[in-house]
Amino acid sequence: MHKNNKLIFTILILVIIFIAGIFIINKTSNNKTEEETSVVQSVKDTFVPPPTTLYFVGDIMLTRGVESSVEKNFNGDYNQLFKNVGELKNADILFGNLEGDVSTIGNNVGSKYSFRMNPEVLEAIKNAGFDIVSFANNHVGDWNMSAFKDTLSRLNENGILKTGAGLNKSEAEKVTIIEKNGIKFGFLGFTDVGPNWIEAKRDTPGILLASDPAIEDIIKNAKAQSDVLIVSFHFGEEYKTVHNSRQEELAHRAIDNGADIVIGNHPHVIEDVEEYKGKPIVYSLGNFIFDQSFSKDTMRSMLFSVTYENKTLVKTEQRIITLNKMYQPEGIFTKEEIREKDDIASGACPTPKKDYEDMFFANVGQIIDLPDVTYVPSKLREIKTEASTKKGVCLVKEARDAFELMAEAALSDGYTIKASSAYRSYEYQKNLLANAIKSGKEDASISIAKAGHSEHQLGTATDITGKSIGYSSANSSFTNTVEAKWLEKNAYKYGFVMSYPLDKENITGYKYEPWHYRYVGVDVAKKIRDRKITITEYLK
Ligand code: DAL
Ligand code: ZN
Repeated sequence: MHKNNKLIFTILILVIIFIAGIFIINKTSNNKTEEETSVVQSVKDTFVPPPTTLYFVGDIMLTRGVESSVEKNFNGDYNQLFKNVGELKNADILFGNLEGDVSTIGNNVGSKYSFRMNPEVLEAIKNAGFDIVSFANNHVGDWNMSAFKDTLSRLNENGILKTGAGLNKSEAEKVTIIEKNGIKFGFLGFTDVGPNWIEAKRDTPGILLASDPAIEDIIKNAKAQSDVLIVSFHFGEEYKTVHNSRQEELAHRAIDNGADIVIGNHPHVIEDVEEYKGKPIVYSLGNFIFDQSFSKDTMRSMLFSVTYENKTLVKTEQRIITLNKMYQPEGIFTKEEIREKDDIASGACPTPKKDYEDMFFANVGQIIDLPDVTYVPSKLREIKTEASTKKGVCLVKEARDAFELMAEAALSDGYTIKASSAYRSYEYQKNLLANAIKSGKEDASISIAKAGHSEHQLGTATDITGKSIGYSSANSSFTNTVEAKWLEKNAYKYGFVMSYPLDKENITGYKYEPWHYRYVGVDVAKKIRDRKITITEYLK
């Protein structure tokens, strides 16, 4: 190559390398900027404020039978009471109702039940995670003013906040603020069940009464200082599971004046929950720890939890805490878990005495009998009273749940259906047919299955009745009722199929029964409906 040409060529190469270099550097730095921008953007987009959770439980009463139990079973260590409910510590704020004084002084005023707890309980209550207790209730005056005041100072010493009580009126009505994640949660407490003698006055200690003429202003003032205001009431009637009009009036008034959550106590049992103007009202939480072992309902508390993101309520949850014989909370359960527990304990439905093969899809009828005629399904569960005509109407759990769902759906469409006869034992079916024959029922053999041949023995079939025939048990007057028509149109959606349809007697072997439905599961029910066949044909 010529010398000059060589020089020009080298310069050209260098220029190309230079330009390419600038291009690459530019591109990389541009990329980086884009990446950085998108990270900032996505942090902005996905930023979720930390959730703040509040847990509420019912009455805490740790004397009398509870104290004896702690002495006997836990060597005097109150902390043991809380060992199965460690989850309570996870709450940002844990609230309960302290049902009585915690003191060594005072004199028993002689109320029917006088509660004064051992001061050691406070350390255990604190260790369990309690941040605040309501102290406006009918037992705080049980050991007179000195014990009341002593309790207030002991709560203070143990770092447990209180609401509804104070050394004077202005302290009692002062909202207790707990700030979490930048949200100011305010607490107020009132009692509607006295004792009125211990009402806080301008210069005397005491509690806040729901009958206070200034209640609306007290709530408004509290709301002005809080982002989220919780108002607790000790109200209602003991052992009633549904709230009364007085509770409703107070709860609504609280919300109308600024409350965001209303929490109730006093009935010793769980009551209903209402949503009013988008705000939850828990009418009664029940007994968190109490020695009322005389009923199932008095041995449990609701654990009501709420979750806030920023200042917005994003979630509420109702779970149940049950007490064991030692008055120790046993754990935290979902409502479904509790129902299952109660169902088993109730003994309302028979349980098999031996192991049977599952007969969910057994094809039983006029000709074919059960492989084992004494079959008793496992997991027979009672249908709730709203969806059955009497106690002890049982189906296998899956069918029971589906039936209740179907009854609710019918109700929301304006029809009330109930199960009048579901699982039947071999003996029951045998007597049913024998009695029909004895009373001269002509078509007995094509209306009532022989023992060992009935779908009712499977625990998946039920006779259904409706409001328009006064819930009388299965009979031909059910034909063409609004409920029968609703079932024909909708039962398959819940997994139920009419076993003995009209004009299929030659296939099923039984007369038309517009009330008799068998649960086969949603998929199979749909298939049977689509193919316009009977269960008998499908199972063949
Ligand atoms: N009524 C139906 C056929 C039964 O007794 O099972
Ligand atoms: Zn039937």
